[in-house]
Amino acid sequence: GKELIILGLESSCDDTAAAILRQPDGGPAEILASVVHGQNDLHAAFGGVVPEIAARAHAEKLDICVEEALAASGVALRDLDAIAVTAGPGLIGGVMSGVMCAKGLAAGLNIPLVGVNHLAGHALTPRLTDQVAFPYLMLLVSGGHCQFLIARGPDDFTRLGGTIDDAPGEAFDKTARLLGLPQPGGPSVEQAAKDGDSARFAFPRPLLDRPGCDLSFSGLKTALLRARDALVTDQGGLTEQDRNDLCASFQAAVADVLAKKTARTIAAYLEDAPAEPLLAVAGGVAANQTIRAALETVCAQMGVGFTAPPLALCTDNAAMIAFAGLERFRGGHRDDMRLAARPRWPL
Ligand code: KG4
Ligand code: ZN
Repeated sequence: GKELIILGLESSCDDTAAAILRQPDGGPAEILASVVHGQNDLHAAFGGVVPEIAARAHAEKLDICVEEALAASGVALRDLDAIAVTAGPGLIGGVMSGVMCAKGLAAGLNIPLVGVNHLAGHALTPRLTDQVAFPYLMLLVSGGHCQFLIARGPDDFTRLGGTIDDAPGEAFDKTARLLGLPQPGGPSVEQAAKDGDSARFAFPRPLLDRPGCDLSFSGLKTALLRARDALVTDQGGLTEQDRNDLCASFQAAVADVLAKKTARTIAAYLEDAPAEPLLAVAGGVAANQTIRAALETVCAQMGVGFTAPPLALCTDNAAMIAFAGLERFRGGHRDDMRLAARPRWPL
């Protein structure tokens, strides 16, 4: 073993990112630089991410992100020991842009390439930020995903349950769209909810009546649509207070469902848990303060540790990809020019 310096690239959705990490053998990894270029402006007019526009923007921005990460870290290309890249799951054009860029760099520098699963990047983040030891329970909650996992190793995850339809981030984005709030919906709905009454609308808590760790969010979306339409019919439109109340009531329902299902999952996990059980959350929706607080309360009540990454490492970034790459690399994993971009890649 020795000190390693790794470059990570991320381009699977609508953020282009590059990061450089240094890790002494046996020591914690240090983020030397983490650059993220979002694409919100490019997709704003379409109310969602347009894959073709995203792929072109990634292809343009990847080199710039790499240059900025090198400059910010003071690391030279020749200092790099390996290149990690998101190889899936995600929008295929974006993933291909990143994989091509990584292959070019790895071939030019004659250093190894490590393909990383984007979800593993999120799921391993607590090891980067808090040096959390395996195994731990993970709630991965983002724009495309919602699942409970036991993380046992960098390539070893057991899925306990997850959403049977939409991801919560998707529901936040849809809610924002229905209410005319800007994308991405999570932060704008959270902001509006601050001045709203979470008890005004009684939104459903799907699947709470059923045992197990599965979740559902599509009914919640429909309920919000109905409540909005009823207000429009009655009043001819929505006031700002209506909007805030809808957001607060929606967010409370999501937080409640996540907290109650997390409690159930923890109870199942505790039957065969390590001495110091811990729940970690990751993914874009983990940036939500109401949801974080609800999960933290459940953990405190059940005597389980809780950790959530800082906000910038909850949403998409390349530091998590570089770190997941480091973990795989240290475990002996190497990819070559045959590394494929995968639109689907379950953990
Ligand atoms: O992890 P992420 O950046 O991308 C993936 O989906 O992999 O997550 C993005 C999602 C979006 O749906 C966004 O609306 C949501 O995370 N999000 C939030 C918040 N910040 C981002 N949802 C709720 N509250 C937030 N503060
Ligand atoms: Zn993500």
